[in-house]
Amino acid sequence: MKKNLFSSIYQAEKTSKKKIRSGTFKWLNSAAEDGFTSNKNLIDLQNIKIIPRILSKNQNITLKSKVFGTEIDCPIILCPMGHQTQFSQNGEISTAIGSYEEKILSFFSTQGRIGFDQIRKKVPNLKMIWQIFPFGKKEWIESQIKIAEKNRSLALCFCFDASVRSHRYIERETNYDARKYGKRLFPVSPDPSQALQYDWEFLRWAKQKTSLKIIPKGLINLNDINKCVNLGIKNLWISNHGGRMFNSGITAVDILKKIQHLRGKNTIFVDGGVRKGSDILKYLCLGANYVGIGRPAMYGLINGGSSGVSKIFKILKSELKTAMYNGGFKSYKDMRIDRLIF
Ligand SMILES: Cc1cc2nc3c(=O)[nH]c(=O)nc-3n(C[C@H](O)[C@H](O)[C@H](O)COP(=O)(O)O)c2cc1C
Repeated sequence: MKKNLFSSIYQAEKTSKKKIRSGTFKWLNSAAEDGFTSNKNLIDLQNIKIIPRILSKNQNITLKSKVFGTEIDCPIILCPMGHQTQFSQNGEISTAIGSYEEKILSFFSTQGRIGFDQIRKKVPNLKMIWQIFPFGKKEWIESQIKIAEKNRSLALCFCFDASVRSHRYIERETNYDARKYGKRLFPVSPDPSQALQYDWEFLRWAKQKTSLKIIPKGLINLNDINKCVNLGIKNLWISNHGGRMFNSGITAVDILKKIQHLRGKNTIFVDGGVRKGSDILKYLCLGANYVGIGRPAMYGLINGGSSGVSKIFKILKSELKTAMYNGGFKSYKDMRIDRLIF
């Protein structure tokens, strides 16, 4: 472990800015149009207050859980993120090694530069999940499902909220094209235009093609969530893609408040705007089972490769535990919405 990499997520962001080309850093932090939704993710979390409690006899905190037939140590997970070799030479492999050091459930995507099988070879014991963008005909999707199955993906995630490239004002100004930077060991998806041709039949079809549990990512509409539930999909990923794709103004906080009835029945994944331990605690009180880390993991990768990634998770884990000790939380049972003020 490299010493003195950084001591907070905020510092990691600042120092990573100095370590890579300015266009790449701006691309990492950029979001749809003027970035309103991306900022809103941070603001909505910031605006929630947590009600602490005293004398909770909470010396023995437990954060273990079981999902997809395996035990997970903590609810902090790595979001799927594409194009990681822009940030560090070995991109997804370094991220996977760093995540493995902290035993983090990790997602990798078909928009990445290194394939799932290549990552699996380097990190044989990482608990990981392959995410497929619907950027090709069904035969191609099926080939990716087979890769996931063969390489012990714990489930199968689909990205449904990024059909076309968004307009990002920052990228227009810098004229930065992420596809031109960083090495590529995994071929580009065959036909992104397919994404606009699929409807709900796609999920019914996918369910029949695999015994892996399906996690649709990008759910931010209550009707869509209900449709998933009616299709028997138990795992739901509430996300606005870090505000990078659609400047909707809707955040995961808005939606989690409205799906309290699914607590205990469905497994809820969430992401967007997490920069500190108390943010994670807020999402957990809102009913999330797993909380995804996006950009911060890449700040870690830029700063120190795999060591930087593991340091990010180490910091967040420690901050979450400390927030639990000082806030009077012992376990998931204490994480209820009535511990929050909006
Ligand atoms: C560089 C980058 C690449 C991303 N690529 C993907 C992707 O391939 N699939 C996906 O579902 N989301 C992708 N996302 C969105 C993240 O999975 C996640 O939803 C978002 O980053 C969470 O917000 P945060 O960055 O504030 O933590 C990407 C985000 C970033 C920053």
